[in-house]
Amino acid sequence: MKILAIGDIIGEVGVKELKNKLYQIRQKEEIDFVIVNGENAAEGMGITEKNFNDIISQNVDVVTMGNHTWGKKEIFKFIDHPKLIRPANYPKGVVGKGYNIYECKNKKIAVINLIGRVYMNVLSESPFLVVADIIKNIKDKTDMIIVDFHAEATGEKITMGYYLDGKVTAVFGTHTHVQTADERILPKGTAYISDIGMTGTKNSALGMDVSVAIKRFETALPERYKVATGEGTLNGVIFDINDKTNKVKAITRVNM
Ligand code: FE2
Repeated sequence: MKILAIGDIIGEVGVKELKNKLYQIRQKEEIDFVIVNGENAAEGMGITEKNFNDIISQNVDVVTMGNHTWGKKEIFKFIDHPKLIRPANYPKGVVGKGYNIYECKNKKIAVINLIGRVYMNVLSESPFLVVADIIKNIKDKTDMIIVDFHAEATGEKITMGYYLDGKVTAVFGTHTHVQTADERILPKGTAYISDIGMTGTKNSALGMDVSVAIKRFETALPERYKVATGEGTLNGVIFDINDKTNKVKAITRVNM
């Protein structure tokens, strides 16, 4: 079984990249299950119904979110879609769900979305305590558990990796839009990478227009970010999973 996780889709450019390249990766790598982080699909902030439908029309199994979950208020119309999950550590009672269990090749795969608390400016519960509770509830009902930890600080992400080592199949980071080269199998068998990168415009400031970013840093004035245009890039990671043990045998970065 091969699971592909694709990094933050930035604007229409990112959606287009997904449409252009996912089919090729699927053919080449024989991918069975696809997770996409979609929280920046709508001009970098949030996701529209059209973005969501465009993404899942590419046979994507799960769309995860993050700090821009509520960036476009139309998300409230489709927040209960089974393929859409938002961070599980939002306060209790918030609409939507933080994880879901999917079926693929006779295996039950749980996907959990979490948001970090370091440098994130989002009021949330402890992702550590919340994920421990979820795992306790679902571990007997699933064959694999995959976690998208949407967070800024690598220290918080790595700590989560070790916290979940041996308890879940894989932990991958999203949000920074820069792919890290620290992919590995942790000592107790969980696959880990701090950040899988982004899917959007290659020559950009994290997917955004460079001249706007420079102006903001140069002047400290609140110039509005806009999504960069130009040649695209798709970032992600492939987890190659042993069908007998349900453990990752290889973790490979995708950068195309
Ligand atoms: Fe984010």
